[in-house]
Amino acid sequence: MDIETNKIAGAALSTLLVVMGLNMIAGIVFAPHKPAVPGYDLPSAEPVAAAGAAAPVADEPIAVRLAKADAARGEKAIGACKACHTFEKGGANKIGPHLYDVYARPKAGVEGFAYSAAMKGKASEKWEAEQLDGFLKNPKAYMPGTIMAYAGMSRPDQRADVVAYLNKLADAPKPLPTP
Ligand code: HEC
Repeated sequence: MDIETNKIAGAALSTLLVVMGLNMIAGIVFAPHKPAVPGYDLPSAEPVAAAGAAAPVADEPIAVRLAKADAARGEKAIGACKACHTFEKGGANKIGPHLYDVYARPKAGVEGFAYSAAMKGKASEKWEAEQLDGFLKNPKAYMPGTIMAYAGMSRPDQRADVVAYLNKLADAPKPLPTP
């Protein structure tokens, strides 16, 4: 091995040492902390979920939802109601009162139907958009004591579709609230 070869080998070796040294320094300077479990480096000092994240989002007002509602979709969403209600003109009462012309009808307004005391107690109110939306969302929460054994329709957009459909079941549909 001649002197030239030694020089080149020495240069290469010292370059390697410098690179390794820089790498170590960079490691100390830029990566002072390593995740306890690789790939799971979540900051534990911050709260994982912001306080508002889990809070339920309020439904859009029914008037806003009605502007986007579709009665035809509503008609398809009332399958479960048909176990207890009729929807056509002149339809009979079943387990529940007939629902033709229900929009803006007084609560407990069907002659001869055996309503609950809770429903009869609200007979001075009418089934307008807001009332229908609230009742269909969760009947028992909206009207404690109701005998309507239906869990509720959770989707706000779907309730608006159903309200739009119920409104159509009339000789002369009433105007719906607008945003
Ligand atoms: C298991 C039977 C049952 C199902 C399912 C049901 N209802 Fe009822 N519904 C009733 C009964 C019973 C009443 C009377 C409640 C009372 O007197 O407290 C009622 C009352 C109502 C009223 C008030 C009517 C009035 O004359 O005051 C509306 C509106 C209504 N239901 C709509 C619906 C819609 C829409 C659905 C489907 C999304 C539905 N119901 C599903 C049994 C049912």
